[in-house]
Parts: sequence; C-alpha cells; structure tokens
Amino acid sequence: MNNRIYPAGTAILAPLAGHTDLPMRLSARRHGCRYAFTEMVDAGSLVFGNHKTMNLIKRDPSEDFLGIQLVGSEPEILKKAAEIINGLDFSVLDFNLGCPAPKVAKKGEGATFVVRRPDQAIEAFSILAEHSKIPVTAKMRILDENDPAPTVEFAKRLENAGAKTVTIHGRLMKMFYSGPVFHEIIKEVRKNLSIPVVANGGALSAALYRTLVTESGCENGMVARGALGNPWIFREIADPYAGPPTLEELAEEMQLHFYSIIDFYGEETALRISRKTILEYLRGRGFPGELRASVSFLNTVDAFKALMLEVRKGPSPRYWQTLEQNPAQERRLARRQPHPA
Ligand SMILES: Cc1cc2nc3c(=O)[nH]c(=O)nc-3n(C[C@H](O)[C@H](O)[C@H](O)COP(=O)(O)O)c2cc1C
Repeated sequence: MNNRIYPAGTAILAPLAGHTDLPMRLSARRHGCRYAFTEMVDAGSLVFGNHKTMNLIKRDPSEDFLGIQLVGSEPEILKKAAEIINGLDFSVLDFNLGCPAPKVAKKGEGATFVVRRPDQAIEAFSILAEHSKIPVTAKMRILDENDPAPTVEFAKRLENAGAKTVTIHGRLMKMFYSGPVFHEIIKEVRKNLSIPVVANGGALSAALYRTLVTESGCENGMVARGALGNPWIFREIADPYAGPPTLEELAEEMQLHFYSIIDFYGEETALRISRKTILEYLRGRGFPGELRASVSFLNTVDAFKALMLEVRKGPSPRYWQTLEQNPAQERRLARRQPHPA
C-alpha cells in the first residue's frame, strides 16, 4: 500500500490525556518508540491560545514524528484549529472520535459525536481534511460488538472524507477502558477499507500487542496504557527476545523521566505530577506497599533521591519467587499483571 503513514510492523504510542506529554514521549522514544501523539487538545482552547494547551503541544526537536490530536465539534473552530496547526510543526492531525469521558460527552464530542450525530461528525472531519496541510486521520471506537456493519460504514465514510488512516479501539463507548476487545470487528474494518487501519485496545504487554495485531489482521497497533511506566514495551514489541527492564534499567529510566519532568514543568508542578509517573513504574513489579505508599508524600527532589535508594534495593524476595521467569531473562522486572483493568 502506498503512502502509508506508519511502516508496517511499527507500534504507535496512543494519545493519553494526562500522560503523553513531552517527558513521557521522550522516555518512550529512548526505548524504540518513533510514532507518537500529543494528548487530545480541545480545538477551542487551541484557537483561543489557552496557556495550558500550548504546553501540551510542545514538541522536542529530537521528535522525528509527532501527531497532534484534536477534539471538538464546531465547524468554524475546527477550521481555525486546522489553520493554526498548519503553522506548527506536526506530522499528522488526528481527530478524536472515541473519547467517552463525561466532560467530552457533555459537549457531544468524541465517541458521543459519532453515536449521536454521525453526519455532523463526518462533516467536522471533512472540514479538518479540507483545511489541513498535513495528513488527517481519525481514532474511533467500534459501534457494535456483534455486527461489524455500523463500524465499517462509519470508517468508510471517514476514508471517503479524506482520512489517511483510521485507528479503531475495539471496545464500545459504554465499556470505557475495560472488558474484551472485539478483534473481529477491527478485522472487518481492515478488510473493507483501502487506507491502513491501526488496531487499538488491550495491548497492555508486548505479548498482548501481538495478539491484537494478529487477531485484527492489522499491520500496526496503538499502545496506550501498556506504555505507562513501561517504555520498554516498544523494544519488546520490536524484538521478541528483548525482555523487560533490569532493576538498573528501571532505576535509570525513572531518574531520567523524573528530571525531564522537572525541566519541562519546573520543580513545584513537577513534584506533584511526577507521583503518578513514579507509581506507574513501580506497579506490578513487586516493590513493597510501603514504598509505593510513600510516593504520595513526595514533595522535594531530596525525597525523590531517597526513594530511588529504596527502589535500587529491588522488589521483595517474594516477587522473584512468584514471578514466572524465562531463564534467559532472569532478574528482569516483568510485570506480574500488565494493568489492573
Ligand atoms: C488515562 C487515559 C487517557 C486517554 N486519553 C486519550 C486521548 O487523549 N485521546 C484518545 O484518543 N484516547 C485517549 N485514551 C484512550 C487510549 O488512547 C486507548 O484508546 C485506550 O486506552 C485503549 O487502549 P488500551 O486498552 O491499550 O489502553 C485515553 C485512555 C486513558 C486510560
């Protein structure tokens, strides 16, 4: 297929509100992620130059490929947003048609836009496609778990409106982020569209990523929660023999990521927002509960340094005993459970 945005076989880092900021993307990129997105950006906030939004869309010069994702519905605002984006440095413009969050649903945007006002959603997408100078793509959810027809039909309309790629999250809007991913529906979309289809949902580990792309028949998959606290998922996807991180690698990456958050946001904000990031790194890797609990009180850089001394002592001995280790990957911090969901 010509004009593919993503070479077949590559994994893409999904937009994740509150997570895929510049420090997280750089962390993922250190471990093999090339294709990544900003978190969703409200079209109106972009047009009105909201300060926080401007921070969300900062791109590091080292970022080779970066997509921006917009959420919105007002035609005039979307047109202006596309024009602003034309003057910025992004690789693709993705339209969010899959978000089920109440604050987005309340405005009739994201997944709600597709379900309640499909014609207007296509019209909104067409406006972006018409005014954008960079390729425009869309990310949506499946619309029925038994019958592929509604999802195929809507995705086809996006293709006809100029989408260069459609990403399908194989869950229904009402499922939010839990429950099965309906690979068969994604597969039908893949079979019926001429543009590439990216599969999404449930790629919480490299093994689950392989299941997602194999079962859906897609050449590319999008990794979302599986990348939180686990940038190594990208190297594990690219190389089935690359294992999870060693303790040394984990500690090193936690430090790099933490100081990059400080550089980006300044110390005060960074200390507050880095807690969730630190917890993600520790989750499922056998670190004592007290250590994880202490992260909530982290309020100085010195406290972070003290925490790292504890992290470097490693997980509890019981973790090593309970972990099913591949002998070739001994002493690697595989997650006992990829994600609680
Ligand atoms: C905390 C969180 C924030 C998210 N933010 C966005 C977003 O900004 N834009 C978007 O299209 N999807 C967003 N998603 C959805 C993910 O991109 C992805 O579609 C979903 O998590 C399913 O993939 P997974 O099962 O591999 O996590 C978000 C999901 C979570 C859990």
